[in-house]
Amino acid sequence: MAQEKFLVLLPLVVLALLGLACVQPSLARESKAMKFQRQHMDSHPAVVSASYCNLMMKRRNMTDGWCKPVNTFVHEPLADVQAVCSQKDVLCKNGQSNCHQSRSQMNITDCRLKNGSKFPKCVYTTTQKKQYIVVACEGNPHVPVHFDACL
Ligand SMILES: *[C@@H]1O[C@H](CO)[C@@H](O)[C@H](O)[C@H]1NC(C)=O
Ligand SMILES: *[C@@H]1O[C@H](CO)[C@@H](O)[C@H](O)[C@H]1NC(C)=O
Ligand SMILES: *[C@@H]1O[C@H](CO)[C@@H](O)[C@H](O)[C@H]1NC(C)=O
Repeated sequence: MAQEKFLVLLPLVVLALLGLACVQPSLARESKAMKFQRQHMDSHPAVVSASYCNLMMKRRNMTDGWCKPVNTFVHEPLADVQAVCSQKDVLCKNGQSNCHQSRSQMNITDCRLKNGSKFPKCVYTTTQKKQYIVVACEGNPHVPVHFDACL
């Protein structure tokens, strides 16, 4: 009797487990380090045309529900950006002390929402620059979790 019940329940248990396995990836919260990479890393852009920001802000999910007003993409290898975490200590704009300034200037693209542009039509200006970047770092290993400024 007990065995029959088990045999009836088994497929349900298997289905439930499969369901969990499928749902898990979308439930897994994006870490702060992953979010930094999604929002700020584009190491090897094919071309940075005038429409780069319109395209990339959308592709990297920064125009879902609102238009993120300002965002910077860094065109350098991830390792070089992570290395900034062990470079010059500087204060973050919000007064926290875990910010670091890059030793060298980096190729970046500055994206700014155009005046009058409103969700869902997020229209950006694309400006290429070569500047020092300031990032906030956290964790062990110490990795960038926030883009603070470029100077
Ligand atoms: C953007 O969001 C969609 C839907 O939630 C997701 O499938 C996609 O992987 C996200 N893209 C990035 C770059 O995170
Ligand atoms: C930065 O961009 C300039 C001009 O676009 C390019 O010549 C240079 O190689 C780039 N530097 C790096 C480190 O990618
Ligand atoms: C954008 O609008 C603000 C106020 O609405 C104005 O002060 C600023 O000069 C405008 N900027 C440009 C680039 O038109």
